Amino acid sequence: MIKRLSWNTNIDIKKEKEEKEEKEGIILFIRVPKGTQDILPGDISKWYYVEDVIKEILNKYGYIEIRTPFFEYTDLFVRSIGESTDIVTKEMFTFPDRKGRSLTLRPEGTAPVVRAYLENSMNRISKVIKLFYLGPMFRCEKPQSGRFRQFNQFGIEIIGTQAPAADAEVILTALDVYKKLGLKNLEILINSVGCKRCRADYIQKLKKYLENKKDFLCSECKERYTKNPLRVLDCKKDDCKEIIEEAPVIIDNLCQECESHFTEVKSYLNDQKIIFYEDPRLVRGLDYYTKTAFEIVSGKLGAQNSIAGGGRYDDLVEELGGSPTPAVGFAAGMERMIIALDQQKVALPPKKGLDIFVAKVSEKNQDRAFRLLQQIRNANLSADMDYSGGSLKSQMRIANKIKARYTVIVGEEEISKNMVILRNMHTKEQKEVKIDSLIKYCQGDGSTDNLKEAV
Ligand code: HAM
Repeated sequence: MIKRLSWNTNIDIKKEKEEKEEKEGIILFIRVPKGTQDILPGDISKWYYVEDVIKEILNKYGYIEIRTPFFEYTDLFVRSIGESTDIVTKEMFTFPDRKGRSLTLRPEGTAPVVRAYLENSMNRISKVIKLFYLGPMFRCEKPQSGRFRQFNQFGIEIIGTQAPAADAEVILTALDVYKKLGLKNLEILINSVGCKRCRADYIQKLKKYLENKKDFLCSECKERYTKNPLRVLDCKKDDCKEIIEEAPVIIDNLCQECESHFTEVKSYLNDQKIIFYEDPRLVRGLDYYTKTAFEIVSGKLGAQNSIAGGGRYDDLVEELGGSPTPAVGFAAGMERMIIALDQQKVALPPKKGLDIFVAKVSEKNQDRAFRLLQQIRNANLSADMDYSGGSLKSQMRIANKIKARYTVIVGEEEISKNMVILRNMHTKEQKEVKIDSLIKYCQGDGSTDNLKEAV
């Protein structure tokens, strides 16, 4: 007989199989692609919970969901994220369609949302539109803890306003989601990357500073120095970091408008008693940002500690063919949120068990039990039965395992009297009840509380 295992012990068996393969130098099974993972039934309730909290909070803030395709024409990402960014140069899953047009699995959600905004003339619906999305993104990065090639983001975009309050709202929305989930020890890093005008002047200053140091930059940064010097500030290599340390910062070079915008954003956050840190070297890995840029980091996550990032992108709508339209938003990595929840041992609400498990004394009662099962489901209660042909004892074991609140036992003798045995799995009380009254109880208000009377 096969010993039934839980989802967790299956993970040990998976490891054993891998070790066997390695030892014997053979491949027994096809694996999930590198950098991807299955979300198994044992973990799905965590995902449902996180998704429900996200939707509840975003609903409270007035965001409406948008679902864009998982792939887009490559050009969309090249033009919006930026030709010389890591995402575009190294991390996109790009492939031709049958007619040779280049498609890319979406590495992020902002560009597709702006494309959809323009394509569907959403500016005609309302001057300011607040959208949210939730779903998989794809980046061909080197996998490591918290970094995947397929990962899930939820994100929001407010399109059509330059109000600093919108920047603050975006940050507060993210924090509200984390608060509701019970995540703690988060740091908010914030900066302003200026606008087209002040950034151009700053880039000249930065280039001048880097000019006689460029031989000491890493090979990628040497290239960045000519193509997109701002990206040098984003380099994680120690030598470059040391050089950047002394570099002029954009915050000291903002134009009047960008400076007062930043001051207002910060004053909204202060007003809400939000503790944040100004990080003058925060530039983010996407080129479309203007003015506010921010990241929310969770200290214990290690190298991949950013659980959310975003900012203002006032030029993107225009760059993608629309009229000048300011916008601001953020996206958060859901795997990283779930890892942080596990690390911080946040207790999630207990899984709701099944209302009723229908067990039969013998296979002869299968038809009657099945009819009853459907009647119960039709009365809007969750119900299930076992199809493996196991004994009553093994059916009761299943009922316990799936945390059924009640078990209905269908037996020959009881059925002849139009009755079943109803067992309260918690109190272990059981008694015979008429099938009609059981269904009536079920049909009452569809709640198992009605069943209490029957037991
Ligand atoms: P991003 O910083 O590239 O921004 O990604 C946002 C979040 O997605 C990160 O903070 C991280 O939590 C998660 N993330 C990114 N890459 C991975 C990965 N390989 N594996 C796991 N999680 C990952 C954006 O995507 C912008 N579109 C955000 C935005 C929206 N800005 C304005 N509106």
